[in-house]
Amino acid sequence: MRLKDKVAIITGAAAGIGKASAELFAEEGARVALLDTQPSGEEVAGQIRRAGGNALFVQADVSREKDVQRAVRTAEDTYGRVDILVNNAAAFVLKGLEATPQDWHRAVDVNMIGAALCSRYASEVMKKNGGGSIVNLASISSFIAQPGFLTYSATKAALVNMTRCMAMDLAPYNVRVNCVCPGTIRTSATERHMSKTGMTEDEFVARNAPLHLLNRIGQPREVAYAILFLASDEASFITATPLMVDGGYIAK
Ligand SMILES: NC(=O)c1ccc[n+]([C@@H]2O[C@H](COP(=O)([O-])OP(=O)(O)OC[C@H]3O[C@@H](n4cnc5c(N)ncnc54)[C@H](O)[C@@H]3O)[C@@H](O)[C@H]2O)c1
Repeated sequence: MRLKDKVAIITGAAAGIGKASAELFAEEGARVALLDTQPSGEEVAGQIRRAGGNALFVQADVSREKDVQRAVRTAEDTYGRVDILVNNAAAFVLKGLEATPQDWHRAVDVNMIGAALCSRYASEVMKKNGGGSIVNLASISSFIAQPGFLTYSATKAALVNMTRCMAMDLAPYNVRVNCVCPGTIRTSATERHMSKTGMTEDEFVARNAPLHLLNRIGQPREVAYAILFLASDEASFITATPLMVDGGYIAK
């Protein structure tokens, strides 16, 4: 078991990559605190418990400081420590220059400030334990331009340098900070994108698969394994690093 005795907080764990990570972490022996705005996170925690794992759910919005404090406190009170934080929750604000100030605020509040707040309060607990690991979900969108992705891409690019800055500030406390950068992954976010653009599943795959060297889109578990590696002690000398999990997308 690669996360035996570890306590992990995973944001946005009711669906997609966050859900896959919570399930995988529990299989690897971690006690997991799932955080999401959606009450369906409780069902995910319930499934993990029924499968023999240890999980709790806190309904919370990462962009609200009081919610974040409550969620971290609940994890610490229940499990006695926090070793791992996965900053996975995101607002998919896909807008170009037509974005309103409200659009910008939503993207920045969730994707940047949310990750910063969770890192702040979780790292305070990690410092008491003698260390920990934070994994941020950046994206291929951190590095490339995509049409109509200005708001989303700006926040995901920021998250790469936030990773480096947090890694520097937390290194003296033995807290490592890294990020994973997925390519296109089949989740509820891609489903929403399909229904918004009127694309069928086949059209979506036909358009997106060839952008990746491996000529397909990825599955949430394929990202969860990369998050698991960075979160685990196997990555004990890795910090401030973006890890591409993109099927070779940005090499093209
Ligand atoms: N799916 C992809 O193709 C892809 C590609 C690159 C990067 N990513 C990144 O991976 C992460 C997960 O993406 P996904 O596709 O699994 O998304 P998803 O939409 O399937 O799941 C995201 C979860 O986050 C929750 N959430 C949203 N805002 C929240 C908030 N303010 N507070 C708490 N929870 C909140 C949602 O309720 C949802 O359960 C995101 O950071 C995303 O930017 C995804």
